[in-house]
Amino acid sequence: MSKELIFAIQLTKPNLAKPFSGSAKKLKGVNTLQWRENTAEMGPVAAETIPDIIMIDDSPENGDLFTRIKSIKGHFPQTTLFVVSDNKDHHFIIAAMKAGASEFLVEPISEDALQNAIDEVRAKLANVGRIAHGRVYSFVSAKGGVGSTVLAVNTAAALAMGQKTAVALIDMSFQSGDASVLLDIVPQNSITDISTNINRLDVSFLHGVMTSHSTGINFLPAPLNPEDSEEIIGEHISSILNLAKKLYDHVILDCASMHVNNCSIEAFKKSDKVFVVTDMSVPSIRNTVRLCKLIRKLGISLEKIEIVINRFIKGGALSLAEVEKNFDKPVYWLIPNDFADIVSSINRGIPLVKLSHGAPFSKNVVEFIKKFQGLLDDQNFRGVKGTFGKNI
Ligand SMILES: Nc1ncnc2c1ncn2[C@@H]1O[C@H](COP(=O)(O)OP(=O)(O)OP(=O)(O)O)[C@@H](O)[C@H]1O
Ligand SMILES: [Mg+2]
Repeated sequence: MSKELIFAIQLTKPNLAKPFSGSAKKLKGVNTLQWRENTAEMGPVAAETIPDIIMIDDSPENGDLFTRIKSIKGHFPQTTLFVVSDNKDHHFIIAAMKAGASEFLVEPISEDALQNAIDEVRAKLANVGRIAHGRVYSFVSAKGGVGSTVLAVNTAAALAMGQKTAVALIDMSFQSGDASVLLDIVPQNSITDISTNINRLDVSFLHGVMTSHSTGINFLPAPLNPEDSEEIIGEHISSILNLAKKLYDHVILDCASMHVNNCSIEAFKKSDKVFVVTDMSVPSIRNTVRLCKLIRKLGISLEKIEIVINRFIKGGALSLAEVEKNFDKPVYWLIPNDFADIVSSINRGIPLVKLSHGAPFSKNVVEFIKKFQGLLDDQNFRGVKGTFGKNI
């Protein structure tokens, strides 16, 4: 099942068509097709593809708008039709909707309004199983300060920057969320706005609360006041994730370190993978073993739980084999120690994968996202090569 929406754009007014071709490139999770005049009116024979959305303008040269809408809906009954017009008269808008348009966008096209309209369609198609749900990845650590936030933020950024995919990052470190610091975002809204208005949760409300970051990430900040975190319960997380999975290709959750609560349990249940981040120190490994056991007791299968070792140094006090003996499955991924680069990225509020593509950590994260998407040429690779370039 496809993850991308097929969006056919048939704009003929010169004041719309040209500026919009730039905006169309920025749309996430959408495969755009540029249709020439009348392709939509001629139907599937001319179109070759049945799109999920067709967008037309009301250019007078193309004939009566309402007749065109009816004819397009006749040819593409399953497709959602967007109409762009400079006519704000409400009788005109109602007539367009009655003829079969689902969305009426007033010129000039607002990127936010269009993204909302597209996401409404995406959510509807996901509801009826016509479009694939996104995947959810949790990052959690058994001991504070081992790097799960750094990894979650950079993973989200690498996913958002690398492809035309829609990526959400949710800060679930409710008491001390610092993902916003790593993104240099001063949050105005937070997950608390949703939990206190949970009955209003829909596509545009979620978008309104989230913040767009220059990497392309849509970010949902942790509560602005730690005491507000008590308002958030497992069911809120469940509702947010159910909706987010319909709108985003990847949903990254930066979970609180050290303790598991109803919210993180819900997050783990909804996750395709739970990455447990640790370093090679004895206390961290011991806590990781305990946390993995606890997560399994909660009913999360071993298959979903993956151990990631951060700040890995070859030839450290403990060998990887010694560390691995403690776990129920092999370590999934190793991340090199890259302290200077990471500190400079944190201080500048720019994820390292954006600040410095060549940094050892950045190169590693780009391979990491390929691994969990099944895109590595050598799926046995674990992030760091051993002697003579062999897999460790
Ligand atoms: N690969 C790495 N190499 C070197 N230093 C790192 C690496 N990853 C993280 N760090 C350092 O670890 C520090 C803590 O990272 P981070 O805030 O991501 O940890 P955390 O597990 O999320 O902790 P918290 O308990 O606060 O949630 C960072 O400030 C950074 O200095
Ligand atoms: Mg953290």
